[in-house]
Amino acid sequence: MESKTIHLILLFIFISPQFHSSYAQTWIRAGYWYASGESPIPDINSALFTHLICGFANVSSSSYQLIIPSADQQYYSSFTEIVKRKNPSIITLLSIWNGQASTAQGILGEKVNSSVLSSMLNQSSSRSSFIESSIQIARRYGFWGIDLFWLWPNTEADMINLGKLLDEWRAAVDSEPRNSSLSKLMLTMAVKYVPSFGSMTYPIESMKKNLDFAHVVAYDYHLPLKENVTGAHAALYNPTSHVNTDYGIRQWLNNSFPASKLVMGLPYHGYAWTLANPNDNGIGAPAAGVAVTQDGSMSYKYIKWYTRSYEAKIMYNASYVVNYCIIGLNWIGFDDVEAIRAKIAYAKEKKLLGYNVFVVTNDDNWALSWAAQDEENAHGKKRRLLLIIFLPITMIIILIASVVCYLQRKLLKTKGKIILRKLYRSESAFTSGSPSLQEFSFSTIKAATNTFSSENLLGEGGFGPVYKGKLRNGQEIAVKRLSKTSTQGLEEFRNEVTLTARLEHVNLVRVLGFCSKKEEKMLIYEYMPNKSLDFYLFDPSTKHFLDWTKRVHVIEGVTQGLLYLQEYSNLTIIHRDLKASNILLDHEMNAKISDFGMAKLFKKDEVEGNTGRIVGTYGYVPPEYVNKGIYSMKYDVYSFGVLLLQMISGRRSTSFYGPNRSLHLLEYAYESWREDKGVEFIDPALDDSSSSCKLLRCLQVALLCVQENPDDRPTMLEVYSMLKSDTEVIPIPTKTAFSGKRDEHMASTSTSQQAVSVNDAQISELLPR
Ligand SMILES: *[C@@H]1O[C@H](CO)[C@@H](O)[C@H](O)[C@H]1NC(C)=O
Ligand SMILES: *[C@@H]1O[C@H](CO)[C@@H](O)[C@H](O)[C@H]1NC(C)=O
Ligand SMILES: *[C@@H]1O[C@H](CO)[C@@H](O)[C@H](O)[C@H]1NC(C)=O
Ligand SMILES: *[C@@H]1O[C@H](CO)[C@@H](O)[C@H](O)[C@H]1NC(C)=O
Ligand SMILES: *[C@@H]1O[C@H](CO)[C@@H](O)[C@H](O)[C@H]1NC(C)=O
Ligand SMILES: *[C@@H]1O[C@H](CO)[C@@H](O)[C@H](O)[C@H]1NC(C)=O
Ligand SMILES: *[C@@H]1O[C@H](CO)[C@@H](O)[C@H](O)[C@H]1NC(C)=O
Repeated sequence: MESKTIHLILLFIFISPQFHSSYAQTWIRAGYWYASGESPIPDINSALFTHLICGFANVSSSSYQLIIPSADQQYYSSFTEIVKRKNPSIITLLSIWNGQASTAQGILGEKVNSSVLSSMLNQSSSRSSFIESSIQIARRYGFWGIDLFWLWPNTEADMINLGKLLDEWRAAVDSEPRNSSLSKLMLTMAVKYVPSFGSMTYPIESMKKNLDFAHVVAYDYHLPLKENVTGAHAALYNPTSHVNTDYGIRQWLNNSFPASKLVMGLPYHGYAWTLANPNDNGIGAPAAGVAVTQDGSMSYKYIKWYTRSYEAKIMYNASYVVNYCIIGLNWIGFDDVEAIRAKIAYAKEKKLLGYNVFVVTNDDNWALSWAAQDEENAHGKKRRLLLIIFLPITMIIILIASVVCYLQRKLLKTKGKIILRKLYRSESAFTSGSPSLQEFSFSTIKAATNTFSSENLLGEGGFGPVYKGKLRNGQEIAVKRLSKTSTQGLEEFRNEVTLTARLEHVNLVRVLGFCSKKEEKMLIYEYMPNKSLDFYLFDPSTKHFLDWTKRVHVIEGVTQGLLYLQEYSNLTIIHRDLKASNILLDHEMNAKISDFGMAKLFKKDEVEGNTGRIVGTYGYVPPEYVNKGIYSMKYDVYSFGVLLLQMISGRRSTSFYGPNRSLHLLEYAYESWREDKGVEFIDPALDDSSSSCKLLRCLQVALLCVQENPDDRPTMLEVYSMLKSDTEVIPIPTKTAFSGKRDEHMASTSTSQQAVSVNDAQISELLPR
């Protein structure tokens, strides 16, 4: 009861608007957005931030005025307006940098002796030209502040001149003739993790006076391009060196820079090294250069997708405050939820002003930003609780809180139900004619699954566990239970309910109904006694159950299921997660496609769609989706091709094959086929002599399905006819997707302002998303 009461107080305080807003004002949640069409502005969840910094304007080397690259003007001019939609009180800033090339050099630790900023600072006339144009342009595009992102000043003169610039900039901003409706522009600046380096020290006095805040670039300390040992690139602590955020922050504070003007940088990216020795794989292990991308940089979003696909275990090292994972020889160091939380706790403890993310669009479903906010609230709550305890009106609050809480809960409860019902009802309008979904009561399902006992656990699905159950009438069912913490799962759950209610085909798993009670959400399926395809394909002890004739039957079933989804149902559906574990087998070994959580509904005339969210499973996802988020019916054709390759070879797509184990499944299949060694690829235990469907023919069809260019891939109708006929001439496949240097194309998913060389063309590829 005691703890419940405290909980109620907390809840009340948390939902109380005054408390919340006064609190939010003092703590800065800032983030960079890098102007480009690759990460659409409307996708930014600006409600999670107080400040958004739009980058980057550069400076003319002749006039020292600001230049907004013409291709980016469209983004700058709409930025503030768009991000305000989700958060009317957001403050936007325009960031100025030293030009791409110089910034990249600066990060790599090279001196930039030709810096435009450097020469701008030198003359009072060029400084004022810079200052004037910066104010004008910030106003013209509707920004509320200006940020200087200079990585890094590199002479003592730079530092002295920087001090002068800030004095003049502040004076100009303060005296700007402006409408009374406009507030003064903010001035902020990115700084190195330490205030002094080499013989230089930042102009701290001037910064204190003139800046609204300075944010520490607390990452990119170690880069795989520069160091051949794995490194915690954003280490909060480092027991063996001073290159860490804690050391830097303490230096700033000790140099009398106020904590109330200091903001901590958080990286939403990491770096991948190639380990020299897979058994020596901690922090500081010997490495042999970059991995995965051209410069080793990977966005958090990409890292999460990558680790999920390989089912890699993510480690956390609390003595450095860093997460890392090992996949084969790849060592990836980054900040996951634990590291971010620890850093927020640190920033709170040091009474810093807040945090600043680089870059916001690298988050994975906003997981890091949510974690940061959550940690921040946890700290806020403690403080508020202390306050409350001494207030005489505690009792009244408790009373109000419990009433509010009760009402709130009641509301939530009905709301949850209404949403689901409504959704289900509106959907059933479409499904007239098809059997509608049944709503099961929680007690029915609880009894059927023996209270979700572990003996009844069939497996762990994408968004929660799956249980076997038996209804009182004897019917066997499979129950997919949404894990309570999964918000992503809720979306997928809804998706699955809406879509599957509309689909009916012998080769699709049938959904019998759903169960929804408070936060419990469950989907009830028909039970498939023979498990899923992956159970047979890759296990030497079970693969003989599935001889070639049975496999041909499964292939036919999957083909039919896809044909229905793409051609014959009254909707067009892209499944987007077709893989062996999603092909279930009934008691007659008929294939049934399952799991429509990721599926997308298409209008009949739509050719392709676009999404910012990367879903799917590594190895089954086509390149156009990985690179650009584009999906079309050819997405499933691609996954079907991969599945076909697995069925004829019994090989996984997460391993490497061929001489030196250097080829992934698709490359190995293609190389074998091209060198007329297709039989080496095929599982020798499979015998196609009595089947009209020949293994080598399947190999060729599969290779057509996994071609790089989606337009080159056949439609499912074409696939069907090629597999059916043994005389139809099959085209010659071109090189498969993802071939050549592994993951090279993925360099463009990289993250920080990193560059391989100072070649401009290449750098633009590597800019953050
Ligand atoms: C300014 O930025 C644009 C595009 O980002 C780039 O093409 C140009 O080279 C930059 N100019 C300087 C001086 O760095
Ligand atoms: C940069 O410095 C190096 C060596 O000090 C010099 O050779 C080079 O010309 C300088 N580059 C520019 C653009 O000033
Ligand atoms: C900056 O000014 C100093 C002194 O006036 C001068 O010696 C130096 O050459 C100038 N540097 C540049 C890059 O203009
Ligand atoms: C001030 O704002 C009003 C309307 O918002 C506008 O008409 C006027 O031109 C503005 N004045 C200046 C000096 O910007
Ligand atoms: C902090 O600064 C003082 C002088 O200002 C210096 O004596 C002391 O060593 C510094 N402490 C650290 C931890 O750098
Ligand atoms: C963190 O990593 C270092 C270096 O690999 C290792 O010595 C240390 O034991 C690790 N600490 C924790 C808590 O995992
Ligand atoms: C790291 O090792 C690789 C391979 O041994 C080598 O090509 C690269 O030059 C090395 N990089 C550094 C910074 O030493």
